[in-house]
Amino acid sequence: MICVPIVGPTMDRARKDLDACQKLADIIELRLDLIEDFDLPLLLKEAGKPCIVTNRCKIDGGQFAGTEQERVEILRRAIELHVDYIDIETSTPGPLLKSILENKGRVKVILSHHDFTRTPDDLNPLYDLMRQMPADVLKIVTYATDINDNLTLFRLLARARKDNKRMIAFCMGEKGEISRILTVQQGGWLTFGSLETGKESAPGQITASTLKHIYRVNDLKTETKVYGVIGDPVSGSMGYLIHNKAFQETGLPHVYVPLLVQNVTRFFNAYEPYLGGLSVTMPHKEAIMKTMDRIDPAAERIGAVNTVVPDGNGWTGFNTDYSGALKALEPYRPLQDKNILIIGAGGTAKAIGQGVADQGAQLTLTFNRNRDKAQELADQLKCKLISVRDVDQAAVDILINCSPVGMAPNTNDTPYPARLLKKDIVVFDSVYNPMETRLLKDAQAAGCATVSGVELFVHQAAGQFELWTGKPAPIDLMRRVVEDKLASQD
Ligand SMILES: NC(=O)c1ccc[n+]([C@@H]2O[C@H](COP(=O)([O-])OP(=O)(O)OC[C@H]3O[C@@H](n4cnc5c(N)ncnc54)[C@H](OP(=O)(O)O)[C@@H]3O)[C@@H](O)[C@H]2O)c1
Repeated sequence: MICVPIVGPTMDRARKDLDACQKLADIIELRLDLIEDFDLPLLLKEAGKPCIVTNRCKIDGGQFAGTEQERVEILRRAIELHVDYIDIETSTPGPLLKSILENKGRVKVILSHHDFTRTPDDLNPLYDLMRQMPADVLKIVTYATDINDNLTLFRLLARARKDNKRMIAFCMGEKGEISRILTVQQGGWLTFGSLETGKESAPGQITASTLKHIYRVNDLKTETKVYGVIGDPVSGSMGYLIHNKAFQETGLPHVYVPLLVQNVTRFFNAYEPYLGGLSVTMPHKEAIMKTMDRIDPAAERIGAVNTVVPDGNGWTGFNTDYSGALKALEPYRPLQDKNILIIGAGGTAKAIGQGVADQGAQLTLTFNRNRDKAQELADQLKCKLISVRDVDQAAVDILINCSPVGMAPNTNDTPYPARLLKKDIVVFDSVYNPMETRLLKDAQAAGCATVSGVELFVHQAAGQFELWTGKPAPIDLMRRVVEDKLASQD
């Protein structure tokens, strides 16, 4: 179930938001502490869904400014109005809490506990204490300081399931995002989703629309396999859009989540039983290799893994930047003996350079500031190295930009002078934001064939999908998802 909190700040806004959340919410939380001069009977009349009435005090993350007596009096009034649920905190003074629990009538009580600073290693003592109270639902919400904290909440949910106790449990904060997505799948009663960005009632809350339509939280089953991208940062990743859509399109019950990870080995050891596969992004593409049972030969040569796949007999690391680049260049193959000039000598140049070198291309790399690093890669790929300032001296059939030059916000920059672009050159820009870089525009004006960074992104993602599922990737749909997302950022 998805619960949408109504957070005001005015009655007028709250009423409009009640109307707007009808298609998203399974249940609504009326956050009375955040709605000025609320009219509870009117809100209940217009809610159109079961309601939880909450009047949060400050130490539990709310804004109620009166005394505890006054705060609880409002909950008492909600009981008289026969609301579906009220939420009351374990921090409420004992006599007030007791009087609510003993006089709740047929109204169901959610007994809640929040920790805004951390997740204790063992939540069982707290759960045991809360279970002794005559509440209908227990709610324990903590702050994730590490991604592994989410597993503490998952273990608690498993216990509550065994005890047949209705429970809400997840972690707040960016590192807790995965538990907001997976809590219902793990046996939690509901998850909270904001009506829109900016209307969150707690840190790390995801929009209800994303929970419902992208992560499909109400459809996840206990056997759902969890996929995701590990990196730091991961908040800008488009992987969750493209892979969840692809799973949905192909009828697969899987889910794909962003995983903000600092320590790869600790993460992988703890999460392995939950995982169906992983994407790996910066800065973990090398560190993940030591947790693998096997490394695909191309990924081994590159020295970086961006895809992790289980095969029933351990885990194998692959590099789909390598295979994705070759797919993006498919119309221009064979590459044997073609003169390929790569601008840049970083991670992308390494994967693409290895790909084209393995196909027998005549490769030239460029260095910019960091000659030694570029020389190391040129030695590895057994290719020529020139300064980026001498590109006019290189023979070019295919030009590949693997530098960030031209990326937003510096969209007027180009890594290659327009005057050198001739119509028989193929120009491939790995930058995908913007989709049409200055380099690609110059190339089109010169009559060159072009390949955009979107193709690289889509093909590396499609390669991941195929390795994980053994099914053909819905590539046109994946491309559309990326293009729509990038267009919406313009
Ligand atoms: N389409 C996709 O799926 C995809 C995937 C990954 C990356 N990318 C794109 O590829 C770009 C590079 O990523 P990366 O991971 O390889 O980054 P990276 O490891 O930081 O490498 C960047 C390289 O670009 C060079 N460079 C920087 N400024 C330059 C300039 N003004 N002229 C020439 N070369 C310059 C750097 O050389 P110095 O250090 O010597 O300056 C370095 O070798 C990203 O910015 C992104 O736009 C696209």
